[in-house]
Amino acid sequence: MANVDQHATPLFEAVINYAREKKISFHTPGHKHGVSIPQEFRNFVGEKIFDCDLTLLEEVDSLHDPRGVIKKAQQLAAAAYGSDYAFFLVNGSSAGNHAMVLTVCQPGDKIIVPRNAHRSVLAGIILSGAIPVYVMPVREEHWNLMLNVTPESVGRTLDEHPDAKAVLVTNPTYQGIATHLREIARLTHRAGKVLLVDEAHGPHLKFHPDLPTTALAAGADMCVQSTHKIISSMTQASLLLVRRSIDVLKLKRILSLLTTTSPSYILMASLDLARMQMATRGKELLDTAIALAEDARQRINQISGLHCFGRELLGQPGVHALDVTKLSVDVTGLGLTGYQVAQVLNRRFKIQVEFADIDSILLIVSIGNTSKDINRLHGALENVAAEAPRTARTRSRLCLPDGLPEMILTPREAVFSPTLKVPLKEAIGEVSAEIFSPYPPGIPLLNPGERVTAELIEYLRELHARGGRVQGQEDARLRTIKIVSPPVNGRLNNLQETVAHRNEKSDNAPAFHGPPR
Ligand SMILES: Cc1ncc(COP(=O)(O)O)c(C=O)c1O
Repeated sequence: MANVDQHATPLFEAVINYAREKKISFHTPGHKHGVSIPQEFRNFVGEKIFDCDLTLLEEVDSLHDPRGVIKKAQQLAAAAYGSDYAFFLVNGSSAGNHAMVLTVCQPGDKIIVPRNAHRSVLAGIILSGAIPVYVMPVREEHWNLMLNVTPESVGRTLDEHPDAKAVLVTNPTYQGIATHLREIARLTHRAGKVLLVDEAHGPHLKFHPDLPTTALAAGADMCVQSTHKIISSMTQASLLLVRRSIDVLKLKRILSLLTTTSPSYILMASLDLARMQMATRGKELLDTAIALAEDARQRINQISGLHCFGRELLGQPGVHALDVTKLSVDVTGLGLTGYQVAQVLNRRFKIQVEFADIDSILLIVSIGNTSKDINRLHGALENVAAEAPRTARTRSRLCLPDGLPEMILTPREAVFSPTLKVPLKEAIGEVSAEIFSPYPPGIPLLNPGERVTAELIEYLRELHARGGRVQGQEDARLRTIKIVSPPVNGRLNNLQETVAHRNEKSDNAPAFHGPPR
């Protein structure tokens, strides 16, 4: 497929051709080209979208066994991204992470992953029964930023765990920080392992020379990209890009296990178009997005009390390259939290950020933004800064407990064990059935299966007291924690009965609740 015409959009064409024919439907979806869709919805979105909401039909091919237009669309995506295979995903990169881990890991296999991997990676580990071996990303002290993992730490972990099956890294991170992926690929392959990359935040990288190297160019065997997050496919449409080094037949079986039998043609057609758009005009579109983001960064940095890191971080351990379209703005200088700034931007200025934590807000600039957006953002931030209390607010620099908690059970074992809800202080010495991931730093303090320590409980308490949010656990007020039952600790024996009594029936169901994103 070397000289394919990237202007082609076979799936999109097939969908609209079918829609134009107005065939009488005695098939799903039940709304029959929108006829029975509630009028309120039609009034807002129009009619045509419902004609495109199709199901598996000869004309539009089948995602589970593509032989026609979906096959062609996937081949075009593979050619555009330089992979041997491309698979359309309709459940986001989460499904891609699940599939990557399930394809390379059998139950009991080790996989090396960053401690701050997205929760879908942990979900893949839970589904597969793999054993995670964590690599800590580098933490930048001054701004309390979580950078990426280094080749050195991955190399060391590979040496310590020669029996690991694969390495998975997140590249770039949510904040746009890219590690030296080529070096990690070299070390991983030298050790005879497979390199998987969660490139959820990188579907644009291939199309601009000023952006970090792509996973595939760096030598990864498989990577997943959230085309819906960063480029212009519809929410949930993602891509899994694969090299021949992967057992592709097994991967296909796994994808079939994980994928709905009714994938949305609207999502898939939008992915076909998003690939076409980037392959044919990506450089030009990204020129604008990058210029807008750099302009915003520079203007934000002129506002006293705000700081948005940029290329000055390059060269620090864990920062080999930067996706400058991500703007992570530290707001501590305003005497406000990131949550407060995000709320004012939203409610008063009608500006919605991607994410906020206690110290910062995260803004994603994409090919969909305009200079007007940047001007509005800048004006709003100037206003927020002018009215800010500027009382000294120390950055939430709590000292993370050293080292990792002891892993007593695999995440899968912990999640499928009976559980018990106990007060925090009673959990010391017990095995967590929950994930506790405070932001910042966005590193799980505890994953299911890990031993709860006094130090971890103290950290959680203090973080909560300072207004930090801990994602993942059930009790938002952080008074209780779910532990694996039966408890290890004798002191809990009496308590067990009382608390178990009060627990809902669902307590014996899998307890995994990760961060919201
Ligand atoms: C690094 C990373 N990987 C994977 C995902 C999951 O992607 P999706 O929302 O497309 O399922 C996210 C979502 O935020 C993410 O940030």
